[in-house]
Amino acid sequence: MSLKHTALPISSYQPRGTTPALRRRTQSLVRLGAVAALLFLIVLFYLSRRSGSSALSVFSLGLLSSSGGGYGGDFQLETVRYHDLSSVQGTARGWEREERILVCVPLRDAEEHLPMFFSHLRNLTYPHHLIDLAFLVSDSKDKTLQALTRSMEEIQAWEDEEMHFGEISIIEKDFGQKVNQDVESRHGFEAQASRRKLMARARNWLLTAALRPYHSWVYWRDVDVETAPYTILEDLMRHNKDVIVPNVWRPLPDWLGGEQPYDLNSWQESDTALQLAETLDEDAVIVEGYAEYATYRPHLAYLRDPYGDPDVEMELDGVGGVSILAKARVFRYGVHFPAFSFEKHAETEGFGKMSKRMGFSVIGLPHYTIWHEYEPSVDDIQHMEQMKREQLAQEQAEKEKAEKAQRVKESFGDATKQWEKDKSEIQNIAIQEKKKEAAAAAAAAVAKNKPNAQAAAGKQEEKVVARDELGESKA
Ligand SMILES: *[C@@H]1O[C@H](CO)[C@@H](O)[C@H](O)[C@H]1NC(C)=O
Repeated sequence: MSLKHTALPISSYQPRGTTPALRRRTQSLVRLGAVAALLFLIVLFYLSRRSGSSALSVFSLGLLSSSGGGYGGDFQLETVRYHDLSSVQGTARGWEREERILVCVPLRDAEEHLPMFFSHLRNLTYPHHLIDLAFLVSDSKDKTLQALTRSMEEIQAWEDEEMHFGEISIIEKDFGQKVNQDVESRHGFEAQASRRKLMARARNWLLTAALRPYHSWVYWRDVDVETAPYTILEDLMRHNKDVIVPNVWRPLPDWLGGEQPYDLNSWQESDTALQLAETLDEDAVIVEGYAEYATYRPHLAYLRDPYGDPDVEMELDGVGGVSILAKARVFRYGVHFPAFSFEKHAETEGFGKMSKRMGFSVIGLPHYTIWHEYEPSVDDIQHMEQMKREQLAQEQAEKEKAEKAQRVKESFGDATKQWEKDKSEIQNIAIQEKKKEAAAAAAAAVAKNKPNAQAAAGKQEEKVVARDELGESKA
């Protein structure tokens, strides 16, 4: 580019009255410059043809057409750029046609999510050199900006050049978003309308600051997506729709059922909701997924069949902002994220409605699902703490039970021993008894015969006595 400045302008503004030698030298310099400029243009033209990079071709087109005489015949109109927007409409196979995507990422206190987000970025299969990144950092109290800058520097310094992204813009602007970033505050019903309107402003700022004439697509992506196919850009692009969103669910702990629809902002309009809208005042904003507004709209999230064909399409009116692929021309036509009540909606839902209103296709894929990170709500945290307490109590109870059982066992062991002892004692006693009985029986048996003997003996003695008395008397 600096070449252009050294070439012709010098001769045009050559002051009269300079010495011929100086003029000759200047003229040869000019000729040299002109040759160099011509060479530069040839190289540029060749490069742009070869790489097909729209960024380059946009630039070279601008130069070539101005040098070609169509725009003034010389380099004086070098600041004019010529862009042929018919070549950046967006097609089903953009990666083959080198279509550039602008990835827009609004960030607020997102430091902790950045490592995961960059892991996703690295894994994208869409050619990285065709992806330009635009980040908006707003109303952040943590170190989002520093972490972001560091991650970007790392990724762009990777040895594998295929990993490098195209142009990167980091935009900083606060919007006075005061709602706390915790789940309860962000998702509370009261905060929704004003929060969504501020988010809308942020998105519009980001987009208008970063969208270039060479972008064919714009992809909006939240940082806190946990799981998504690496091919998501191609997968969505293949449908060749103006606006398209996947289904967004989130994993849950087992005690909460394992999984749950997350993004309820992608829906189809219903008669109930249209009637409700008519009863609301002009500035009202209907937000989906809250009991306060029972709209009975068919939600993309609830139509998911885990085994369904991921290519099935569903017409939508409102879209959620977790992951939106849109053709850049949608924005060029003037569709944006309303920061006011548009048909009783704001931000991404309003964007869906406005796109529809301007005749663009707005499509959701019920069976193509990406997973948002699970952030436990205050209720969930309480419940989990309660569960933990219960588990601890249960463990404690089990421990006590086990200890008791151990004690019982031990004392039962004593009883057993005692029993054994008692048993042997009883057996001894029994044996003794038996012996005694036997002895007694024997004695009894002896005694049974004894009385006769004794009696006989007595008689004999009596007889003897008598005999003796007799004998004495006889004697
Ligand atoms: C990206 O790919 C790597 C390697 O396959 C994998 O370990 C990592 O989990 C992926 N990142 C995300 C966010 O899916």
